[in-house]
Amino acid sequence: MFDRNIRVMAANGDHTPRAKVTVPWLLQAKHEGRRIAMITAYDATFAAIADDAGVDVLLVGDSVATVMQGERTTLPVSLEEMVYHTRIVAAARPKALVVGDLPFGTYQQGATTGIDSSVRIIKAGAECVKLEGGVSVAHVIEAIATADIPVMGHIGLTPQSYHRMGGNKIQGRQHGDQAGQRDRLLQDAHAVEQAGACALVIEGVPADLAAEITGKMSIPTIGIGAGPSCDGQVLVLHDVLGLSHRKLSFAKPYADLLSASTNAISEYVKEVRDNTWPDAEHSFS
Ligand code: KIV
Repeated sequence: MFDRNIRVMAANGDHTPRAKVTVPWLLQAKHEGRRIAMITAYDATFAAIADDAGVDVLLVGDSVATVMQGERTTLPVSLEEMVYHTRIVAAARPKALVVGDLPFGTYQQGATTGIDSSVRIIKAGAECVKLEGGVSVAHVIEAIATADIPVMGHIGLTPQSYHRMGGNKIQGRQHGDQAGQRDRLLQDAHAVEQAGACALVIEGVPADLAAEITGKMSIPTIGIGAGPSCDGQVLVLHDVLGLSHRKLSFAKPYADLLSASTNAISEYVKEVRDNTWPDAEHSFS
């Protein structure tokens, strides 16, 4: 059987056993200038594939709602569903750090609810939780971190704020202190750091703003649609694999698994209809 503990880092050809990525490792990476590669995962199969490819952080994102469940926004996914997906990602026993998203409505009520939800996600196998927002949720981040649960912040285009933003809109283009405006995002980043977060996702903001925030932070920033200056990058797995129908200007498909999957299944359908499948090689005597 393949021993997952001695897997190699396929990405760089380094055949030495890979050390477990931990929360202190993330902070160390920032201080040593090592860039952090994060990708979403929603199940054990793809968690293992991404882990074997050398990814540092697996995010069990609430994007599971749009990517896997066919929803229009991330808002409908429940805590129970996030617990389930966290459990099946953690079942791959990855070397990558497992981060679990707190879904909409499971921390906005305050510190106690935030801690209770985080405990559920950690018990399912996550090693860190992530939640969206800045100044307005800093007290929740502080409470979760004080309960000894590592927390990752997420500011900028926060998909759980879909209705306030009027859609998934780029944030931080205008100066001002209102939610989503540039000066407010700087305050948000500062508040998240001061509250004790171990890292900060910055999504959908101009590259120069993400660079300014990154330069001011002692914790690593991980960008998505936030330019090249963040300490790390995150993308949705299905966008990286070209497995989704959506075309996002900031995402890059590194493969075309949508066509490959459709072609493979069409070929199977054809062979069943032609009665060329199963052949003798795949039949029992
Ligand atoms: O849920 C998710 O996939 C995310 C990333 C886009 C950062 O939060």
